[in-house]
Amino acid sequence: MSLLLVSKNRDFSALEEYIHSIDSNIDVEIWPAVSNPDRVQFAVAWNHPTHFFSGYPNLQAISSFGAGVEHLINDTSIPQHITLTRMVLPSLAQQISDYVLMSVLNILRRSHSYNKQQRKANWETHQSIPKETITIGIMGLGKLGTATAQKLALNGFRVAGWSRSKKEIESVETYATNELSTFLKQVNILICLLPLTQETKAIIDLNVLKQLKQPAFIINAGRGEHLVDEDLIYALDIGTIEHAVLDVFIKEPLPESHPFWNRDKITITPHTASITDEKQAAELIVENYKRLLSGMELLYRVDRNLEY
Ligand code: NDP
Ligand code: OXD
Repeated sequence: MSLLLVSKNRDFSALEEYIHSIDSNIDVEIWPAVSNPDRVQFAVAWNHPTHFFSGYPNLQAISSFGAGVEHLINDTSIPQHITLTRMVLPSLAQQISDYVLMSVLNILRRSHSYNKQQRKANWETHQSIPKETITIGIMGLGKLGTATAQKLALNGFRVAGWSRSKKEIESVETYATNELSTFLKQVNILICLLPLTQETKAIIDLNVLKQLKQPAFIINAGRGEHLVDEDLIYALDIGTIEHAVLDVFIKEPLPESHPFWNRDKITITPHTASITDEKQAAELIVENYKRLLSGMELLYRVDRNLEY
């Protein structure tokens, strides 16, 4: 029995050490130096090679190394009987909610204008947007969206949230899928923390952006494919959206030639809103590996029908 760690762009040697600090008896294989594929029963994957898993005949479960799982759902080489799980970690929720709070404050205090002005030694002042005059709306009230909504509410913001099933969260006005327009019409700062599925792909288009309350802003920390790039550019050009903060992109790294790079009204971060903490991840991986070996239900299973 062994546990496989596979990624094309992530060095998993520290993760292996953390796993062994919890249980030194676990047999860990790190791709590409896999000595015995037949012994692999559990895999942890992030940006893995395409059609990778057909070479592992005894594989039973795969955990995403992140919260998102579209890379596993969209891999047709993974047989349906394989259980998929994902990362649910306190550090992911803490980081992403901090990222959103920071981005909201930067918008309200006009930090993007001051950053630009500094390079020109320009002492011009701009009016801040008072927090009590705006509503923040979060699309996706799962582990990350709920933590973010709670942090914003605790910081004195009026917060609304939208999710597939209606939620009850203290100090947050919640809406279900059929209430999208009602939700959008009161929102000034739209935050995307949805998973990427067939239903949520390209969900943030011009029609959605136009329904936001003025002044309107967007923060996308879900996935690049949630947003229709050309629609955002048009909405920024015509002033429907004042500023966008983007952490995720359809193609990552964002190509040098992409029109987003040269726009003052767009702030870009390189998919760093929240990064999986290897120590916390190791604890969950070991827990799920042991559950698999003892025939127990795994934690944080993905629903293949819902795609998240
Ligand atoms: P969860 O699965 O816990 O939550 C997903 C939420 O989205 C749920 O509230 C769900 O509704 C809602 N949802 C799903 N489909 C729809 C739909 N069709 N319409 C409306 N709401 C929908 O995910 P997490 O909170 O853990 O993570 C969310 C996403 O954040 C990840 O999938 C990933 O893409 C992104 N992410 C980005 C990171 C970054 O660094 N930028 C880091 C980590 C994650 P319901 O509650 O009813 O099920
Ligand atoms: C994740 C991510 O899904 O890093 O965890 O985006």
